[in-house]
Amino acid sequence: MTDTARRSLLVHQVPDEAWPTRDEAARSRLFSPLALTAHCTLATRTWVPAMVPWRATDDGHVTQDVIDWYGRFADGRPGALVVEATGIRDVPSGPLLRVGHARFVDGLRRLADAVRARSHGETRVFLQVLDFLAIKRRPEPAKFFARFLAVTDGHREALCALTGDARWRTADEGAVRARLASSSDAEAAQALTARELDDLRRGYRERVTDTHLDHVRDLPRALPALFAEASRRAEAAGFDGVELHYAHAYTMASFLSATNDRSDGYGGSRAGRLRLPLEVFAAVREAVSPRFVVGCRFLGDEVIDGGSRVDDATEYGVAFARAGMDFLSLSKGGRFEDAKAPKVGEAAYPYTGPSGHECMPTVRSDARGPFGRNLHLARAVRDAVRIAGFETPVVAAGGITSFSLAERALAAGDADLIAAARQSLADPDWWRKVREGRGAEVRRCKLTNYCEALDQHHKQVTCQLWDRIAVEGEEPATVPRSHDGRRRLTAPAWTLKG
Ligand SMILES: Cc1cc2nc3c(=O)[nH]c(=O)nc-3n(C[C@H](O)[C@H](O)[C@H](O)COP(=O)(O)O)c2cc1C
Ligand code: SF4
Repeated sequence: MTDTARRSLLVHQVPDEAWPTRDEAARSRLFSPLALTAHCTLATRTWVPAMVPWRATDDGHVTQDVIDWYGRFADGRPGALVVEATGIRDVPSGPLLRVGHARFVDGLRRLADAVRARSHGETRVFLQVLDFLAIKRRPEPAKFFARFLAVTDGHREALCALTGDARWRTADEGAVRARLASSSDAEAAQALTARELDDLRRGYRERVTDTHLDHVRDLPRALPALFAEASRRAEAAGFDGVELHYAHAYTMASFLSATNDRSDGYGGSRAGRLRLPLEVFAAVREAVSPRFVVGCRFLGDEVIDGGSRVDDATEYGVAFARAGMDFLSLSKGGRFEDAKAPKVGEAAYPYTGPSGHECMPTVRSDARGPFGRNLHLARAVRDAVRIAGFETPVVAAGGITSFSLAERALAAGDADLIAAARQSLADPDWWRKVREGRGAEVRRCKLTNYCEALDQHHKQVTCQLWDRIAVEGEEPATVPRSHDGRRRLTAPAWTLKG
């Protein structure tokens, strides 16, 4: 975003809402059922999309805190609840859930059971399954030049040009490293390739186009089986389905990206970019029972230079529908390419740039504002899918925090299902409150992204509206707290009275 664009941002107010009565809610589209498949009907068109809460053990297992987190969303009885991005490989990934081995199944089963029990059987629970590539922390410049940079003749030539001294052409490696380490930002920008400069300023990050690396070249051979096995485990754990994570900054979204120019048949044209996502889906479908729901989340717009736009997304949506996916969940942006440079010692976070803002829009926004900001993308994909003759349900997300907006979007045909992430975090009971005609009691999300900042720093995610609330009569010792003891980890209970 340019400085002028940043200066022209407005701070939008969360609009007042005329909440429906219980009868009006009962007659609404939002609280009417929707059959995702012949075997799976959602009780309402309400959806809690994936949100990573940083509550798993360091080796990826479900904890009681994970169960409490999802149990709390289940109290609100959404039609569907998607459990956070869960790694499909058996590799360390910090306190993020994993499903890359049979040993994870028991914990995941306790989680799925808790959702079912606390929603009184109303909520269908899906696991978001994901693959990601390696990313490293931003290095100390001295370390980068001394150890990480592979010195090439290109660097020697650049130093000749910068200094006017031809002796750099034959200088030994140590001298080249030392000279580069002492260079100014402008000199470094001239001497390093764009990729090396990015590694220096943001930290090393693998791309799907790094086909010189064996494991990246082999992704098309490895991933279908990894996703298939992970999905089979999710079914064994009692989930109702999986959401293949084809969105944001991760491997599968990067295969779909218009920036993917792999020349091995898995990049370049739209058909090439779609090839692996379709092969992964086919492998998953084959591995699980016909009762098991399989859908995906993908980007309606990557919001980066040279990235996929809505016309790519409509084609992807039609291809996924034709392949037989059970739902299409749309998101937007959230890419590494435009993320802010992290501090030295920290890793880049894909929600800090303009594409990140589009993914989780805040009240500080351009004139269009954050509310229902991305509905047009769901609409475009849904229209294309319907024109192609498919009825695949489409899920919309992004700044949907009120009943009226959700209901309008359904009535207009923008989407078939309404996802609300941060509003559900601000008030996990909100769907139920609205349904019961108690909308005035909804704790409304401010869309200022305190929660997202916690996620960014890999801290346990909570909401500023409730994480310091002490409830009268509640025994403080029984409320799970963050590691530093300062914040409660779940929203205070709400009981339906009267
Ligand atoms: C703390 C946090 C964690 C998130 N984690 C995920 C995730 O694991 N997978 C995903 O697809 N989206 C993730 N998202 C994005 C949300 O699912 C959603 O698309 C986004 O917040 C916009 O919806 P909203 O305006 O209703 O919040 C996350 C969002 C937040 C705030
Ligand atoms: S922390 Fe802020 S943006 Fe996040 S859910 Fe709470 S009110 Fe909404």
